[in-house]
Amino acid sequence: MAARAAVLKGLGSYLPPRTVTNDELPRQLDTSDAWIRQRTGIRQRHWADPGVCTSDLAVEAGHRALKSAGIGTSDAVGMVIVATTTPDHPCPATAPDVAARLGLGPAAAFDVAAGCSGFVYALATAAAALTAGYAEHVLVIGAETFSTVLDPADRTTAVIFGDGAGAVVLRGGTCDEPGAILAVDLGSDGTGKDFASIPGGGARERSVRAEPNPDDRYLRMRGKEIFAQAVRRMAHSSATALGKVGWSVDQVDHLVGHQANLRILHALAQQLGMDKQRVVSHIQQAGNTSAASIPLALADAAAQHRFQTHDRLLLTAFGAGLTWGSAALTWPQLTPA
Ligand code: UT7
Repeated sequence: MAARAAVLKGLGSYLPPRTVTNDELPRQLDTSDAWIRQRTGIRQRHWADPGVCTSDLAVEAGHRALKSAGIGTSDAVGMVIVATTTPDHPCPATAPDVAARLGLGPAAAFDVAAGCSGFVYALATAAAALTAGYAEHVLVIGAETFSTVLDPADRTTAVIFGDGAGAVVLRGGTCDEPGAILAVDLGSDGTGKDFASIPGGGARERSVRAEPNPDDRYLRMRGKEIFAQAVRRMAHSSATALGKVGWSVDQVDHLVGHQANLRILHALAQQLGMDKQRVVSHIQQAGNTSAASIPLALADAAAQHRFQTHDRLLLTAFGAGLTWGSAALTWPQLTPA
């Protein structure tokens, strides 16, 4: 009998309606459409309107993933995981609120904070829970409102990040079914914690300052150093996941990497020895949506019928922490919502 595995059953995504093209970015940023396209591939991003935050986007995407999975009864979902770097509050976590608003009631619900690798971390956590028999279904959501932590005067971050949410429903199954998560690899290096961080808002700041420094609520990023690390770490993690599942690079049909920068995705493909045609990119439309970027890219590609049932997918991500992670799966028969 085939080994137990988590199997992808539903996929949903949500982007807030307001788009901001490169030309519509605030003038004070002293940037240009040409620079942004050439250096990142980004043409536009979506920014949530004031008053809309991460849980709101997560609920929309979660609702759509449940619909895509054909799940109507609340007791079928035993766990809700929200991967985010921009939670609604430092406490409580965003996931219980999202679960309650989706009518998923007493399901276990918690956030995963692993930066832009959060979705892959959450997927691995969900897969472990399902193979252990903890739940029948797990809802995994990557959701971000990065627009709330962007310094409007910092062109090295403000042009890159966008808001959005993507979600998947996983069920318990076996590894011979299309949609099975067949291998994961996760890693971290906390010595790189200052490469990308939001310095304020936590215990560190409160322990040293009586009054918060308003500038510390913004994301700070050492872009060039992260770029190099991202390519190296994702390539290594991808190779590790492929080794675990026993696939060669040539057997991978689609590389779905974290959408941080089109140049990073292409450099990653080159390092792996994979042609660019197999790289899935959504960054042109949505910018870098951190933990939401992989499920958003999956939903976009699936909506364009880019994946066939049984295709082999490699997901890989890198982000603040530093963290990284990869997952190998086959594609199921599903319609994204
Ligand atoms: O999501 C996970 C974490 N984040 C990432 O993975 C992001 C990784 N890093 C990157 O994507 C890239 O490093 C950036 C897009 C952030 C920057 O691109 P780059 O090609 O590494 O540019 P750079 O930092 O080397 O800067 C080159 C020049 C500089 O000017 P000088 O010193 O050569 O005169 C920058 O000041 O480009 C300038 N610059 C800009 N110019 C116009 C930086 N940002 C901008 C901008 N518009 N938005």
